[in-house]
Order: sequence, then C-alpha cells, then structure tokens
Amino acid sequence: MATEVKKVLLLDGVDPVCGQILTQVGIEVTTKGKLSQDELIQAVKEYDGMVVRSATKVTAEILNKSERLCIVGRAGTGVDNIDVQAATRRGVIVMNTPDGNTLSAAEHTCSMICALSRSIPQACASLKAGNWDRKSFMGTELYGKTLAIIGLGRIGREVAKRMQAFGMTTIGYDPLIPAKVTAEWGVESLPLEEIWPKADYITVHTPLLPHTKNLIGETVFKTCKQGLRIVNVARGGIVDEAALLQALDSGTCAGAALDVFLEEPPTDLTLCKHPKVICTPHLGANTSEAQKRVALQIAEQIVGMVKGRPLVGV
Ligand code: NAD
Ligand code: MLT
Repeated sequence: MATEVKKVLLLDGVDPVCGQILTQVGIEVTTKGKLSQDELIQAVKEYDGMVVRSATKVTAEILNKSERLCIVGRAGTGVDNIDVQAATRRGVIVMNTPDGNTLSAAEHTCSMICALSRSIPQACASLKAGNWDRKSFMGTELYGKTLAIIGLGRIGREVAKRMQAFGMTTIGYDPLIPAKVTAEWGVESLPLEEIWPKADYITVHTPLLPHTKNLIGETVFKTCKQGLRIVNVARGGIVDEAALLQALDSGTCAGAALDVFLEEPPTDLTLCKHPKVICTPHLGANTSEAQKRVALQIAEQIVGMVKGRPLVGV
C-alpha cells in the first residue's frame, strides 16, 4: 500500500544524496544538524518523515508529540537510538540500512586489530612528542594467532575473511548460524566456553541486547589466555568496561581497541586514556562511501514506501 510522504526532516548530517533523491520525487526536504529534544518535539509536528544517524535520540516523547509522522529512517545499522516500540504503537514505520556500512565497519575493525598488535597510535603519539623510542613498542605478529569472532553476521564474517589473509586462525560463535555455514567461511564455530581459552584476540560483532550486555566480562577474563587483546567496534556495553579496566591493569588483557562506549561521548575517560587502549569516537561507519551508501539506501527505501513497494529494514 502506498503511503503519502510530503515533507521529510534530515538530521545528524545525513549525506546530501538522501535529500537529492527525495527531492527528485517531489518530497520537500529540510536539512538540519542536531536539534535539542525540545526543538525536535516542536519541529517533528510538521513532518511526515525523519531521517537520522545515531546522534538524535528518537524518544517516545518525540514520537507521541508527532502529528503526521509515518516514517523514521535510520541511515545506518543500529536502531538503538530510536524507541521502536513507541514508534510501532503510533503506527510509525522504522527503517534502517543494515548492510550499507558493513564494509567500513569491518575495515575499521581490521585496522584496529593491526594497530593494536603494533601499538601504532601510541608509537605515533610518542614520536610526535619528540621521542625516538623503539624499545617501548615491541609488537606481536598476527600470523598464527587465533581471532575469536563473537557474532558472525554481516560484519563478523567480513572481518574473518580479511584477517585470514594475515594468517590468523578464525574461530567464532553465533547462535543463529550453523557451524556448517561458518566453516564455509573458514570460521570454526565453538561453544563460548571453548573459545575463551583459545583466543589471542576477541572481536565482538553482536547487537547490544540484554543477553549480550557484559558478554565479555569477569568470567571471560578469568578463563582467557594471559595477554588476550579485545576489540569492540559493535556497541558499548558488550564488553564490560569495569572488568576490562581491571584486566588491563592486572596484565590479563594486553590491550583493547574501542570504537564504541557505554556512554557516548564518554564522560569518564579512564579507559580511553589507559596506555594499553587505543580508541576512536564511533568511527566504524565514518567513511564517505558508507555514508553515501546509507543515505542513498534510506532515500530509496522511503521512495519505495511512497510508491507502495515492499518495506525494507527493521
Ligand atoms: P548482524 O545483525 O548482521 O549480525 C549480528 C550477529 O550477532 C547475528 O548473526 C546474531 O545472530 C549474532 N548474535 C546475537 N546474539 C549473539 C550472542 N549472544 N553471541 C554471539 N552472536 C550473537 O549485525 P552487523 O551488521 O554485523 O552489526 C554488528 C554490530 O555492529 C551491531 O551492534 C551494529 O549496530 C554495530 N555496528 C557498529 C558500527 C560502528 O560504527 N562502530 C557500524 C555498523 C554496525
Ligand atoms: C550503525 O549502527 O550504523 C553504526 O553504529 C554507525 C552509525 O551510528 O552511524
């Protein structure tokens, strides 16, 4: 069934290609940066659609104050910044673009693994500060090491492919993907308790759900190899930040690469400033290619909805 969408609000710096495509089919587009909650409550009343990245929180209050809103588009994967249940109660469709930034997030993860193994950010900062210190930055090879991939969906499997090229052994766990299938990608599926003592690196690629919250926590650090390295380019909270800090201080964990945090931006910078931590401010999807792709996809999905085509995304 076709839906009438006349006016759409684009927020959070969604790539301009989104507006161009919507305009071509006669939809009126307004582009704004980030609005405060109060500004958004006022603004939303005028629009049939809204497109956001991750900065805007589309809360129940915003949705309940909307008058004609029928679609919230998320130019990206995670919809944790949108109250999907409140939207559903109001009959507002929520759409995301689940594969538009997969390659960028996978490449960022692989870059983090490489940077972690050779302390590249720390060595770079040291040289920029005027030091020629080679002793402090003895690295480790990735060749022959075991990478555990928790969550073998879109991003997890792309990470596996790329890190196999470095000679890493890839093992993993995903409750929804049969071992026969992961074996085709060169990933041995194992139960979690068998993974922890085998892994030299663990990278997480699950959504943040009640059952994945603190998935990497005290228990894992108790049973893992001494010198384990952890990577989180998925969602803050999958790795228990307090347990990670303890494991870094005790030497159980030799390093962590974090792109995402429980609180974003983090107000407590203890982990970020830890000498064994390398970090980026949620940059996994921050490439011009991924941003164009997700903006294009969400625009096409909205146009499809207007034309009565089957809905895509969440
Ligand atoms: P996906 O849905 O394709 O894959 C997630 C996988 O996790 C699924 O196969 C699911 O079965 C599995 N899973 C669920 N619970 C699990 C558990 N307890 N243990 C192991 N596996 C479990 O998602 P994706 O596109 O690969 O994205 C993965 C994560 O990366 C999401 O949290 C997404 O929001 C995040 N992400 C982050 C960035 C970034 O900028 N840092 C960019 C894109 C995506
Ligand atoms: C996503 O879920 O798509 C990523 O976290 C990137 C983003 O927030 O844009």
